[in-house]
Order: sequence, then structure tokens, then C-alpha cells
Amino acid sequence: MEGASTGEIVRVVKLCPTQALTYKYNTEIVPEKAPEQPEVMAEARIMEDGPLVLKGDFTIYDVDGRELRHLKFTSLCRCGRSDNPPYCDGTHRKVGYTGK
Ligand code: FES
Repeated sequence: MEGASTGEIVRVVKLCPTQALTYKYNTEIVPEKAPEQPEVMAEARIMEDGPLVLKGDFTIYDVDGRELRHLKFTSLCRCGRSDNPPYCDGTHRKVGYTGK
């Protein structure tokens, strides 16, 4: 991050699949505006040997069509070993999931 432009830092932070990285503008120091980016409605990202990470604005329904949750971010289990399906609970690390 050191020496990178504000736009580049914002771009890299937005690529973080788990949203562990965040940013905010210090408008007193950095008057630079963020580069225009297309609005992302939803994004699904497969993590290596891990969950399917969903970002966006979406609703999860059960098999009968009842709304379970309205979310902006979640991780869905791909390994089949979660104790809280369909959500990832981190068990994939313990079992050494190799679905790549
Ligand atoms: S992918 Fe994380 S618990 Fe299955």
C-alpha cells in the first residue's frame, strides 16, 4: 500500500473476498476521488479449498421458497461438512477440503 495511489488502494481493498480489508477517505489529506467503478449487483467467488463467497444484495430462500435471509455478504459451504449448512463455518480447514 505504501506509495500506491488512493485509487489503487481502493481497487485492491474492493477485491478482498472476505471484506477483511476496508478503507475510508481522509478528505483533509486526500482530495483525490475514487475511480468510477461499475455497480456490482452480486458477485460469487470460489475460494481455493474453501467456501463460495457471495457479495452483493441478495436473498436466500429455503426449498419451499421461504425467505431465510437477506444479505450483502456471506460464505456458502462447498465442502459439505459445515455444522451450519448452507453456510461455511470454517470446518473446511479442519477436514483439509481439497475441492480446490
Ligand atoms: S466450505 Fe467452509 S465449512 Fe464447508
